[in-house]
Amino acid sequence: MRSLIIAIDGPVGSGKSTLARRVAALMGYVYIDTGAMYRAVALKALRRGFPLDAADRLTALAGDTRIDLRAGDGTQRVFLDGEDVTAAIRTPDVAQGASKVAVVPGVRHVLVAEQRRAGAEGGVVMEGRDIGSVVFPDADLKIFLTASPEIRAQRRWREHQQKGDSIDLPRTLQEIHERDQRDSGRASSPLVRAEDAVMVDSTAMEPEEVARLVVMLARNQSPASAAR
Ligand code: DC
Repeated sequence: MRSLIIAIDGPVGSGKSTLARRVAALMGYVYIDTGAMYRAVALKALRRGFPLDAADRLTALAGDTRIDLRAGDGTQRVFLDGEDVTAAIRTPDVAQGASKVAVVPGVRHVLVAEQRRAGAEGGVVMEGRDIGSVVFPDADLKIFLTASPEIRAQRRWREHQQKGDSIDLPRTLQEIHERDQRDSGRASSPLVRAEDAVMVDSTAMEPEEVARLVVMLARNQSPASAAR
Protein backbone atom coordinates (compact mmCIF):
# COMPACT_ATOMS: atom_id res chain seq x y z
CA MET A 1 0.00 0.00 0.00
CA ARG A 2 1.27 3.49 -0.75
CA SER A 3 2.36 5.62 2.17
CA LEU A 4 -0.28 7.95 3.51
CA ILE A 5 -0.18 11.28 5.26
CA ILE A 6 -2.35 11.02 8.37
CA ALA A 7 -3.20 14.32 10.08
CA ILE A 8 -4.36 14.34 13.70
CA ASP A 9 -5.56 17.64 15.14
CA GLY A 10 -7.37 18.53 18.32
CA PRO A 11 -7.21 20.52 21.55
CA VAL A 12 -4.78 20.02 24.42
CA GLY A 13 -5.30 16.76 26.32
CA SER A 14 -7.53 15.17 23.68
CA GLY A 15 -5.09 12.25 23.41
CA LYS A 16 -3.47 13.22 20.10
CA SER A 17 0.07 12.22 21.05
CA THR A 18 -0.90 8.81 22.39
CA LEU A 19 -3.06 8.20 19.32
CA ALA A 20 -0.53 9.46 16.77
CA ARG A 21 2.30 7.45 18.34
CA ARG A 22 0.24 4.27 18.42
CA VAL A 23 -1.09 4.62 14.87
CA ALA A 24 2.45 5.27 13.61
CA ALA A 25 3.67 2.12 15.38
CA LEU A 26 0.81 -0.01 14.05
CA MET A 27 1.35 1.21 10.49
CA GLY A 28 5.15 1.37 10.54
CA TYR A 29 5.00 5.13 9.94
CA VAL A 30 7.01 8.05 11.27
CA TYR A 31 5.40 10.01 14.12
CA ILE A 32 5.78 13.79 14.08
CA ASP A 33 4.65 15.90 17.03
CA THR A 34 4.49 19.48 15.72
CA GLY A 35 3.60 20.92 19.14
CA ALA A 36 7.12 19.95 20.22
CA MET A 37 8.47 22.36 17.60
CA TYR A 38 6.45 25.30 19.01
CA ARG A 39 7.55 24.26 22.49
CA ALA A 40 11.22 24.22 21.42
CA VAL A 41 10.97 27.76 20.03
CA ALA A 42 9.23 28.88 23.24
CA LEU A 43 11.94 27.31 25.40
CA LYS A 44 14.66 29.10 23.47
CA ALA A 45 12.78 32.41 23.70
CA LEU A 46 12.20 31.99 27.46
CA ARG A 47 15.85 31.16 28.05
CA ARG A 48 16.86 34.32 26.20
CA GLY A 49 14.33 36.41 28.08
CA PHE A 50 12.45 37.44 24.93
CA PRO A 51 8.95 38.84 25.47
CA LEU A 52 6.59 36.24 24.01
CA ASP A 53 4.70 38.85 22.00
CA ALA A 54 7.75 40.29 20.21
CA ALA A 55 6.71 39.02 16.78
CA ASP A 56 9.74 40.13 14.76
CA ARG A 57 12.30 38.85 17.26
CA LEU A 58 10.45 35.54 17.65
CA THR A 59 10.22 35.08 13.87
CA ALA A 60 13.96 35.72 13.49
CA LEU A 61 14.62 33.36 16.39
CA ALA A 62 12.54 30.58 14.80
CA GLY A 63 14.38 31.03 11.49
CA ASP A 64 17.69 30.75 13.30
CA THR A 65 16.78 27.58 15.20
CA ARG A 66 17.42 23.97 14.34
CA ILE A 67 14.84 21.52 15.63
CA ASP A 68 15.35 17.79 15.10
CA LEU A 69 12.71 15.22 15.95
CA ARG A 70 14.30 11.81 16.26
CA ALA A 71 12.52 8.52 16.74
CA GLY A 72 13.84 6.42 19.61
CA ASP A 73 12.65 3.62 21.91
CA GLY A 74 8.96 4.12 21.04
CA THR A 75 9.13 7.84 21.76
CA GLN A 76 10.23 10.95 19.94
CA ARG A 77 13.26 12.84 21.20
CA VAL A 78 13.45 16.56 20.55
CA PHE A 79 16.73 18.37 19.90
CA LEU A 80 17.02 22.14 20.00
CA ASP A 81 20.18 23.35 18.27
CA GLY A 82 21.72 19.96 19.06
CA GLU A 83 20.65 19.84 22.74
CA ASP A 84 18.22 17.14 23.89
CA VAL A 85 15.28 19.14 25.30
CA THR A 86 12.73 16.27 25.35
CA ALA A 87 12.01 16.76 29.08
CA ALA A 88 12.68 20.50 29.26
CA ILE A 89 9.86 21.36 26.84
CA ARG A 90 7.20 19.54 28.91
CA THR A 91 6.84 22.05 31.76
CA PRO A 92 3.62 24.10 32.27
CA ASP A 93 5.57 27.33 31.58
CA VAL A 94 6.83 26.09 28.24
CA ALA A 95 3.33 24.84 27.35
CA GLN A 96 1.86 28.30 27.96
CA GLY A 97 4.82 29.88 26.15
CA ALA A 98 4.31 27.60 23.14
CA SER A 99 0.71 28.68 22.72
CA LYS A 100 1.92 32.32 22.82
CA VAL A 101 4.69 31.96 20.24
CA ALA A 102 2.26 29.93 18.09
CA VAL A 103 0.15 33.10 17.68
CA VAL A 104 2.97 34.75 15.69
CA PRO A 105 2.40 34.24 11.92
CA GLY A 106 6.14 34.43 11.14
CA VAL A 107 6.92 31.63 13.60
CA ARG A 108 4.16 29.50 12.08
CA HIS A 109 5.48 30.18 8.59
CA VAL A 110 8.95 28.87 9.50
CA LEU A 111 7.68 25.78 11.32
CA VAL A 112 4.99 24.88 8.76
CA ALA A 113 7.65 24.87 6.02
CA GLU A 114 9.71 22.40 8.08
CA GLN A 115 6.66 20.24 8.76
CA ARG A 116 5.83 20.07 5.05
CA ARG A 117 9.38 19.00 4.28
CA ALA A 118 9.27 16.35 6.97
CA GLY A 119 5.99 14.85 5.71
CA ALA A 120 6.37 15.28 1.97
CA GLU A 121 7.17 11.65 1.24
CA GLY A 122 4.17 10.28 3.15
CA GLY A 123 4.32 7.44 5.64
CA VAL A 124 3.76 9.91 8.47
CA VAL A 125 1.33 10.50 11.28
CA MET A 126 1.56 14.19 12.09
CA GLU A 127 -0.23 15.71 15.06
CA GLY A 128 -0.94 19.34 15.93
CA ARG A 129 -3.62 21.98 15.57
CA ASP A 130 -3.50 22.91 11.87
CA ILE A 131 -2.18 19.81 10.13
CA GLY A 132 -5.38 18.95 8.24
CA SER A 133 -6.34 22.59 7.67
CA VAL A 134 -3.03 24.28 6.74
CA VAL A 135 0.06 22.05 6.74
CA PHE A 136 -1.39 19.20 4.67
CA PRO A 137 -4.85 20.23 3.42
CA ASP A 138 -4.63 17.25 1.03
CA ALA A 139 -3.75 14.71 3.73
CA ASP A 140 -5.12 11.24 2.97
CA LEU A 141 -6.84 10.93 6.33
CA LYS A 142 -7.71 13.71 8.77
CA ILE A 143 -8.79 13.06 12.31
CA PHE A 144 -10.12 15.74 14.65
CA LEU A 145 -9.82 14.32 18.14
CA THR A 146 -11.75 15.79 21.05
CA ALA A 147 -12.76 14.91 24.60
CA SER A 148 -14.61 16.80 27.32
CA PRO A 149 -12.55 19.56 29.05
CA GLU A 150 -12.84 17.71 32.39
CA ILE A 151 -11.41 14.49 30.95
CA ARG A 152 -8.68 16.41 29.14
CA ALA A 153 -7.73 18.19 32.39
CA GLN A 154 -7.64 14.88 34.30
CA ARG A 155 -5.36 13.31 31.69
CA ARG A 156 -3.02 16.30 31.66
CA TRP A 157 -2.99 16.46 35.48
CA ARG A 158 -2.06 12.77 35.71
CA GLU A 159 0.86 13.41 33.35
CA HIS A 160 2.00 16.34 35.51
CA GLN A 161 1.74 14.17 38.64
CA GLN A 162 3.80 11.40 37.08
CA LYS A 163 6.55 13.93 36.42
CA GLY A 164 6.31 15.34 39.95
CA ASP A 165 4.92 18.76 38.88
CA SER A 166 2.95 20.31 41.74
CA ILE A 167 0.12 21.83 39.65
CA ASP A 168 -3.36 20.85 40.97
CA LEU A 169 -6.45 19.73 39.04
CA PRO A 170 -8.43 23.03 39.12
CA ARG A 171 -5.31 24.90 37.96
CA THR A 172 -4.81 22.32 35.18
CA LEU A 173 -8.41 22.83 34.02
CA GLN A 174 -7.84 26.59 34.07
CA GLU A 175 -4.60 26.16 32.07
CA ILE A 176 -6.48 24.07 29.50
CA HIS A 177 -9.20 26.73 29.13
CA GLU A 178 -6.56 29.43 28.63
CA ARG A 179 -4.73 27.43 25.98
CA ASP A 180 -7.99 26.42 24.25
CA GLN A 181 -8.97 30.07 23.98
CA ARG A 182 -5.57 31.13 22.65
CA ASP A 183 -5.28 28.20 20.21
CA SER A 184 -8.82 28.58 18.85
CA GLY A 185 -9.06 32.37 19.00
CA ARG A 186 -5.84 33.38 17.22
CA ALA A 187 -6.03 34.97 13.79
CA SER A 188 -3.30 32.86 12.19
CA SER A 189 -4.23 29.19 11.60
CA PRO A 190 -6.51 28.73 14.60
CA LEU A 191 -7.46 25.29 15.81
CA VAL A 192 -10.40 24.38 13.60
CA ARG A 193 -11.80 21.12 12.39
CA ALA A 194 -11.10 20.75 8.66
CA GLU A 195 -14.37 20.15 6.81
CA ASP A 196 -13.28 16.70 5.67
CA ALA A 197 -11.83 15.62 9.02
CA VAL A 198 -13.36 12.67 10.83
CA MET A 199 -14.46 13.84 14.29
CA VAL A 200 -13.57 11.35 17.02
CA ASP A 201 -14.65 11.99 20.62
CA SER A 202 -12.34 10.00 22.90
CA THR A 203 -14.13 10.87 26.17
CA ALA A 204 -15.46 7.35 26.67
CA MET A 205 -12.98 5.40 24.57
CA GLU A 206 -9.83 3.52 25.51
CA PRO A 207 -6.70 4.72 23.68
CA GLU A 208 -6.28 1.36 21.93
CA GLU A 209 -9.87 1.49 20.61
CA VAL A 210 -9.27 4.92 19.11
CA ALA A 211 -5.99 3.78 17.53
CA ARG A 212 -7.56 0.72 15.93
CA LEU A 213 -10.42 2.81 14.60
CA VAL A 214 -7.97 5.21 12.94
CA VAL A 215 -5.88 2.36 11.49
CA MET A 216 -9.08 0.86 10.06
CA LEU A 217 -9.97 4.19 8.46
CA ALA A 218 -6.43 4.47 7.05
CA ARG A 219 -6.55 0.97 5.59
CA ASN A 220 -9.84 1.86 3.89
CA GLN A 221 -8.21 4.66 1.98
CA SER A 222 -8.36 3.77 -1.68
CA PRO A 223 -4.85 3.24 -3.10
CA ALA A 224 -6.06 4.91 -6.28
CA SER A 225 -7.32 8.03 -4.56
CA ALA A 226 -4.02 9.80 -5.10
CA ALA A 227 -0.72 8.60 -6.46
CA ARG A 228 2.27 9.45 -4.35
O1 DC B 1 0.33 19.90 21.38
P1 DC B 1 1.12 20.72 22.39
O2 DC B 1 0.41 20.95 23.68
O3 DC B 1 2.50 20.18 22.59
O4 DC B 1 1.29 22.15 21.66
C1 DC B 1 1.90 23.25 22.30
C2 DC B 1 1.30 24.54 21.75
O5 DC B 1 1.72 24.71 20.40
C3 DC B 1 -0.22 24.58 21.73
O6 DC B 1 -0.72 25.39 22.77
C4 DC B 1 -0.59 25.18 20.40
C5 DC B 1 0.66 25.20 19.59
N1 DC B 1 0.57 24.39 18.37
C6 DC B 1 0.10 25.01 17.24
O7 DC B 1 -0.30 26.17 17.30
N2 DC B 1 0.08 24.35 16.06
C7 DC B 1 0.49 23.06 15.98
N3 DC B 1 0.47 22.43 14.80
C8 DC B 1 0.95 22.40 17.15
C9 DC B 1 0.96 23.09 18.34
